[in-house]
Amino acid sequence: MSRKRVAVLGSTGSVGVQALDVVARHPDRLEVASLAAGSNHELLADQVRQWKPAVVSLATESAAQALRDLLGAEAPEVVWGDDGLMLATTGAAADVVLNAVVGAAGLSATHAAVSRGIDVALANKESLVMAGELIMAAARANGATVLPVDSEPNALHQCLRGTETAEVRRLVLTASGGPFRGWSADELAGVTPERALQHPTWKMGPRITIDSATLMNKGFEVIETHWLFDLPAEKIEVVVHPQSIVHSLIELVDGSMIAHAGPTDMRLPIQNALSYPARWAAAVEPLDLVASAPWTFEPAEPERYPALGLARRALDAGGTATAILNAADEVAVAAFLEGRLAFDRIVPVVAEVLDTCDVTAATSIETIFAADAAARSEAQRHLGG
Ligand SMILES: NC(=O)c1ccc[n+]([C@@H]2O[C@H](COP(=O)([O-])OP(=O)(O)OC[C@H]3O[C@@H](n4cnc5c(N)ncnc54)[C@H](OP(=O)(O)O)[C@@H]3O)[C@@H](O)[C@H]2O)c1
Repeated sequence: MSRKRVAVLGSTGSVGVQALDVVARHPDRLEVASLAAGSNHELLADQVRQWKPAVVSLATESAAQALRDLLGAEAPEVVWGDDGLMLATTGAAADVVLNAVVGAAGLSATHAAVSRGIDVALANKESLVMAGELIMAAARANGATVLPVDSEPNALHQCLRGTETAEVRRLVLTASGGPFRGWSADELAGVTPERALQHPTWKMGPRITIDSATLMNKGFEVIETHWLFDLPAEKIEVVVHPQSIVHSLIELVDGSMIAHAGPTDMRLPIQNALSYPARWAAAVEPLDLVASAPWTFEPAEPERYPALGLARRALDAGGTATAILNAADEVAVAAFLEGRLAFDRIVPVVAEVLDTCDVTAATSIETIFAADAAARSEAQRHLGG
């Protein structure tokens, strides 16, 4: 049996490191074709020594040079920037691209992979938030599969196996509710980056941790789910489940519900996306049902979680609106992490940018990036800088 060649993009991040751990557990089934990261050349050098990829990419020329200096004669082909990321995506004969780059920077790689018929194990949900229609159309046209790594959409993908779309009444995404569930408006106004970066159930990179605290992340997942499973937004609901054990559920027309439960460990959905359609032995220790009880569910009240309503509004508007949503959120979250914006201003700033920016038809990736750039400058204007 030949091994599946995996391009690991964002290899130095939270998902990327766990993806390499999954590869390490399956040396007979998986090998690393290429690695790509932003700036962490030191960790990337360790990964290159271990995995010996054909191509390795970093975001900047200086980071690429620092990597070459560290590796000396051991250096493989080291590339950088947008072209470098493209080469790591499509130029290393990968069978599957695991895209765990954070933010809009991941979109081109997803688009390039599916346009060449390469399957994508997708953690970079921003690709589908920004350009879901284009990505899924390119995947269909070129015979590529987009497999969700994001744990809730991955859970839905598992629940939906063997089910016809016509049999589905609704999909239910679960949300932990973030670290500030039950906090008052006054308390939310004083939230610091340090506090917001402590997620109650998952350990993740900074942007998604803040997005989980505002629940914008769950709004993004509604959009992601819509494109992945081709179901209208009205059939996609969100329920707060503080324990993060049930990762999502489907409800069928006969009233049956099928739920996916498991430990809060990203290696489970990562392995699932890499093994699909097969299932390989234990990615993680299974759940201890008794110890994990109780499992509780609460409504995701719209007035408590305005980011959810905003994401639905952008999805309804269509075209470039969801790209604007993502760009504004990326800028606002960065401003919060730099101490330039209060926590409870993140979602209002995104709403203001969404109200101000022109929405156009999403006819090409170039249109998406133009909307992304316009929304970023509009968001900066709202931040006063
Ligand atoms: N963490 C989770 O549990 C989780 C769960 C579900 C979905 N996701 C999604 O997975 C993606 C990654 O999340 P994360 O938590 O792993 O983020 P993270 O820890 O911040 O890692 C981000 C990765 O992207 C790399 N990167 C940043 N800019 C880049 C660029 N221009 N070119 C190439 N690589 C670049 C970073 O490299 P450097 O660090 O070297 O700069 C790093 O490897 C996000 O889209 C997130 O929404 C994450």
